[in-house]
Amino acid sequence: LRNRRWIVTYIEGLRCVRCGEEIGYERVVYSCPRCGGLLDPYYNYNSIAENVKREDVSRRPSSIWKWKELLPVINESNIVSLGEGGTPLIKCDKIAEALGVSELYVKDDALTNPTGSLKDRQISVGVSKAVELGYDTTFTITSGNNGASLAAYSAKAGLKCVIIFTTGATKEKMLMATALGARTIKIKGEDSLVATAVNNVLSGEKPDWYDCGFRVFEPFMYEGRKTNAMEVCESLGWKNPDWVLHPSVGSMGVIKAWKGYKELSKLGWTTGKLPKMTAVQPANVAPIVKAFREKLSEIVPVEPGKTIAEAIACADTGDLGKWTLDALRESGGSAVGVTDDDVVYGLKLLAREGIFVEPSAAVTIPAVKKLLDEGVADRNEIFVCEVTGAGWKNFSFAEGVFGLPKVIPPEEKEIKKFLSEYLENFSA
Ligand SMILES: Cc1ncc(COP(=O)(O)O)c(C=O)c1O
Ligand SMILES: [Zn+2]
Repeated sequence: LRNRRWIVTYIEGLRCVRCGEEIGYERVVYSCPRCGGLLDPYYNYNSIAENVKREDVSRRPSSIWKWKELLPVINESNIVSLGEGGTPLIKCDKIAEALGVSELYVKDDALTNPTGSLKDRQISVGVSKAVELGYDTTFTITSGNNGASLAAYSAKAGLKCVIIFTTGATKEKMLMATALGARTIKIKGEDSLVATAVNNVLSGEKPDWYDCGFRVFEPFMYEGRKTNAMEVCESLGWKNPDWVLHPSVGSMGVIKAWKGYKELSKLGWTTGKLPKMTAVQPANVAPIVKAFREKLSEIVPVEPGKTIAEAIACADTGDLGKWTLDALRESGGSAVGVTDDDVVYGLKLLAREGIFVEPSAAVTIPAVKKLLDEGVADRNEIFVCEVTGAGWKNFSFAEGVFGLPKVIPPEEKEIKKFLSEYLENFSA
């Protein structure tokens, strides 16, 4: 197979995370046929190490697809791209100073991905696989960002797209998906109940949709998330950072970035100790944090409380959460819950660096402070805070925190008053 020039990936198969069963990658299988566990692609790393040089990869245009050998799309011609990935790693000295650390970076997956969130990394891969496998309709249940992204890539690929939004989805995310041509609906209720009800109906009806949803685990697309880790290392001169913090639901962010860091190290492309991975959740809806701190081996669903970080509020993260726990522990990392006040503090610090994000994306900033306060992290270590969704994905929230400009009449007196107030109160 490798001699056929159109094959770009070195994927070898899918492996069950629970029982180790290995199956082929020719079609999409949503769970292990033997035990129902989650499936994870594996690759021929020896061949990659032999045939691919990191310098050549580095020279390719900046995109998640520069890492194509480590992604599951077989034929390059099936790639559906809108310019995802290649997001900046921004050194943030003001945040570092405020938190009391010497070196802190923000990996900004919010503004520079095409639909303004981290989901573009996975949906570009998911929709490419849908095209490769001959599907004509895509589907997701989503708190918003996954849906906005799926609508965009499905439109680009000419696929029909059906989206069910859960309670927390903001107007902006739903409008974006609808504007991009998806068939959309919102179901109000606790997220896991919504997912169970919808999945039960779908399994009865059996529509042949490419399912990028929630509680159904598409085994290929999340590989796109590894590219975040690869970009971080490349930006740091092929070095690993010490701590990487991810806003977390499941958390594919942690699971796949951890896989990405390990893959680069296995290929000999990076040196030094692997990073300590940290999942950050809203303290009121934090099943992973609870299980991590109580040293449980499985996730126990929590009673969901209120939070402004609506995009990452999920009371039961099931098997994904268990996989995340394993990654956090294997890496020597941590799990941190943050309050609404913490999130607003994070948003304001990010704003001082010129970075405008949605509340869920800001949770990693205050979490650094918690790691320091608890004595698990050292102030001289290198921190990478993932920020994952753009500020315009939740305008009404931003308006509440920052306020809209006052409206005044065209009178000199009023203008002078504004200027003098501005000059008196100005601070960087
Ligand atoms: C803004 C934002 N950040 C982070 C996440 C976390 O995703 P995951 O837990 O899959 O890494 C989501 C998921 O909806 C999100 O919308
Ligand atoms: Zn299995």
